[in-house]
Amino acid sequence: GEQRGSIDFDNVSFSYEAAGGDPVLRNVTFSCLPGQTVGIIGSTGSGKSSLVNLIPRFYDASSGTIRVNGKDISGMNPRILREKIAVVPQKTVLFTGTVLENICFGNEQATREEIEHAAKMAEAHDFITSFPEGYDTLLGQKGVNFSGGQKQRVSIARALVRKPEILILDDCTSAVDVATEANIKEALRTYAQHLTCLIIAQRITSVMDADQIVVMDQGRIVGLGKHEELMGSCKVYQEIFQS
Ligand code: GTP
Repeated sequence: GEQRGSIDFDNVSFSYEAAGGDPVLRNVTFSCLPGQTVGIIGSTGSGKSSLVNLIPRFYDASSGTIRVNGKDISGMNPRILREKIAVVPQKTVLFTGTVLENICFGNEQATREEIEHAAKMAEAHDFITSFPEGYDTLLGQKGVNFSGGQKQRVSIARALVRKPEILILDDCTSAVDVATEANIKEALRTYAQHLTCLIIAQRITSVMDADQIVVMDQGRIVGLGKHEELMGSCKVYQEIFQS
């Protein structure tokens, strides 16, 4: 349908404790159109990860409504909801095994072509094939040790091979250099035009070309707009830019 990949937060509040806990998210409202790239930025502890973790229902909102593709997710089976959504976590989890096994973990039916396509979008194909064993390179104690940035790119390839409608990158390009990160975003734009992307980042350069940027501070949205707008209107954003 036309709403594939849309996300709506409507007055969402959240605390980790069921009753009386300090709210980690307060009255969060924003909408993300299908295919949009949304940057999420804010100081540590401002609620960025908590916000995105509500979308696949890793946690449920305390109040308010979240819709994916126009449907209230509180009534959806989490397993079915998660088929549409891929989350690349802050901490990359790779296991002992080949690069191929690591990319198609949870997706063993993926074809070689699909795996290589995902790896190309994640800027991982070239360094993988630079190893003599290529995709059969063994990772882990007895194998090759990839750099932090290389691990993150394998982790992004793992998310893309699932062909999600919504891709959530939770600060997972911190160890990837700025140029490579730009290439990943460009590849996503080119090959996955209909993919909705939420990108949590520390660096302004990671989000400044997003369709919209959500600026978080102490659980609230304190700025919402494009880079130029926020530079003119959002003090918190200006401070992050200058830091
Ligand atoms: P960084 O990842 O450090 O950039 O922070 P963030 O902006 O993603 O904030 P996050 O959503 O991780 O945290 C928001 C608040 O929730 C902070 O006060 C955290 O201490 C708290 N928090 C995060 N995870 C948990 C959790 O699993 N349980 C509880 N009780 N509190 C949590």
